Amino acid sequence: MTHVLHRQIGHRYPVAESARGIFIRDADGKDYIDATGGAAVSCLGHGHPDVIAAMKAQLDRLDYAHTSFFTTRVAEELGDDLIAHAPKGISHVYFVSGGSEAVEAALKMARQYFVEKGEPQRRHFIARRQSYHGNTLGALAVGGNEWRRRQFAPLLIETQHVSPCYEYRGKREDETPEAYGERLARELEAKIEELGPDTVIAFVAETVGGATSGCITPVPGYFKRIREICDRHGILLILDEVMCGMGRTGTLHACEQEGIAPDLMAIAKGLGGGYAPIGAVLVGAKVFDAFATGSGLFQHGHTYLGHPLACAAALAVQRVIRRDNLLAHVRMKGQRLKDRLRHRFANHHHVGDIRGRGLFQAIELVADRASKEPFDPKLKVHARVKQEAMARGLMTYPMGGTIDGARGDHVMLAPPFIVDDAAIDAIVERLGDAVDAALAATS
Ligand SMILES: Cc1ncc(COP(=O)(O)O)c(C=O)c1O
Repeated sequence: MTHVLHRQIGHRYPVAESARGIFIRDADGKDYIDATGGAAVSCLGHGHPDVIAAMKAQLDRLDYAHTSFFTTRVAEELGDDLIAHAPKGISHVYFVSGGSEAVEAALKMARQYFVEKGEPQRRHFIARRQSYHGNTLGALAVGGNEWRRRQFAPLLIETQHVSPCYEYRGKREDETPEAYGERLARELEAKIEELGPDTVIAFVAETVGGATSGCITPVPGYFKRIREICDRHGILLILDEVMCGMGRTGTLHACEQEGIAPDLMAIAKGLGGGYAPIGAVLVGAKVFDAFATGSGLFQHGHTYLGHPLACAAALAVQRVIRRDNLLAHVRMKGQRLKDRLRHRFANHHHVGDIRGRGLFQAIELVADRASKEPFDPKLKVHARVKQEAMARGLMTYPMGGTIDGARGDHVMLAPPFIVDDAAIDAIVERLGDAVDAALAATS
């Protein structure tokens, strides 16, 4: 008997009792490798002494001070730290408590920006199918996850969706990756023209696609063209790096590898590494300036904005990442993870694609490699893989609906940045066994 409304009613969840490094131990004493950092959150693993010490020290000094009365030293220091390493043009930070809140705030900032500029007729957001931006109503509306949206559709703000950059399924045989990216960019431009360029607020996209599509990486030049199109029409570019950002792909921000900077960017998850709930919007100077010279405020707010404990956790996490040179480690171990996945699955009959960047990798499962035919969704292959992996002491992040919200299965991995070679080998070995066992049970 439980009084907690769990994610899956009736499912018996093991009780997480303790955690250290890349392991979580349950109440029966069984250890699980946290190969997915929860949901791409625990970038430093669990129980990091430096982060815990910083949080304890913060609590001893100051627990909470509402942001309508005070600022805090720790929020200011974290703000300085994030801006010192932010993409070009970003000048300010708005702290919230998670990814959905960050996306909500970014959407409202974008709308207010145009109101301040005397363009109140701008009302459209364009985003991509097979994306995920969070579960609150605004974030759910821009998200392109059909399954998540369906029953709430009557409550969602109108959003236009264009194709994701999904090379494995979207690129034609006769197309180069660059030509594919160009085709997608033209699709966005056509959508902007159809709506009327002066009615569009922003284009919203995950730089590297996360949980819904399974680590889909942009083709070369795609985001450069997107940036150019947004600029030409005076439209803001909002990047959602809640999952792929803060070092996960091997650079602090995934957009660094695309050679572009957004006007607004949502970050969370790895920002605080799971030690406390925290997210943020990185705000471009032009948006900040419009607020500063206009109404003088961003019309928004929550009780826990800039919570000192969460800021202390995030500041400590970011300092450890830099001190221990963990971004280089992510690049190196990410390559090993990709190599091991290729070694194990490149000739697997039911793995159609292996993709991702840094310590953010996924495999897409298919019934038939040649035709890319997915498994029957009724088989719930993704759920079986998760169950088989848990039985083997491995936490993975499988999802169904990879292709269109209903069809397709993938398994994502997002291990902590501190992962070593032996752990990577164990992760891939256990995943291989879990996939084979899950598929054997379907045939
Ligand atoms: C890309 C992306 N945006 C937004 C969110 C929502 O973040 P949260 O669950 O912290 O609200 C997520 C969560 O998985 C995400 O992956």
